[in-house]
Amino acid sequence: MSDTQKLARHVAIIMDGNGRWAQKRFLPRVAGHRAGVEAVRKIVRAAGEMGLEALTLYAFSSENWKRPAGEVNDLMGLMKKFLLSDLDEFVANDIRLKIIGDWRGLAPDVVALLEDALDRTSGNKRTTLAVALNYGGQDELVRAAKAAAEAGEINADSIAAHLDTAELPPLDLLIRTSGEVRLSNFLLWQCAYAELYFTDRLWPDFTAADLKLALDHFARRDRRYGGL
Ligand code: FPP
Repeated sequence: MSDTQKLARHVAIIMDGNGRWAQKRFLPRVAGHRAGVEAVRKIVRAAGEMGLEALTLYAFSSENWKRPAGEVNDLMGLMKKFLLSDLDEFVANDIRLKIIGDWRGLAPDVVALLEDALDRTSGNKRTTLAVALNYGGQDELVRAAKAAAEAGEINADSIAAHLDTAELPPLDLLIRTSGEVRLSNFLLWQCAYAELYFTDRLWPDFTAADLKLALDHFARRDRRYGGL
């Protein structure tokens, strides 16, 4: 294995287990999401320090609308608060924000905050933080296939070129917390050759050391892309 193979460039995380974390402490689910935001903060910082080029986080899926309205509101409120409180740190730390998914259909105040955050971080170079909002992998594929068809060419390259993640490095490693072993409609195309890493750790308990462990695990894998 060469050195370049060992370093992950793009890591994605399905941040699962906020509800169970809260339940274990007899707290409302929103407390779990709040603790989840703290974990996001630490992991974004760690990703920059560990030299990742891109970190993609599954924050709100197109299926999450099925949750009670109160929980959806809590999640959107936390997202807004996170943008307002952390944007300056992103700017200072050279982190570029990117949003994937059908996010323009979110509430106008959320869209306005996101547009401002995208604008203010667009020139940053160190790490891209891609947040999946109103994201579904099948929906992304349908949109990409339509765009490829409109451009007159449907093949693997043209579909890949129209994915929400098109300008990010190929996905190296997908992490899912909380012991569930499924993709839940996340980055379906991008997972084709990604290494998959599942941990029992609940998302609010996930630390920089856990990320390091996952990256070490990745470094030991032998990726063959179907060859020998
Ligand atoms: C899954 O836990 C988590 C989510 C549906 C939302 C993830 C959101 C955050 C971590 C906070 C907002 C994110 C950002 C980027 C500010 P769950 O509620 O399904 O947990 P459970 O399976 O234990 O019930």
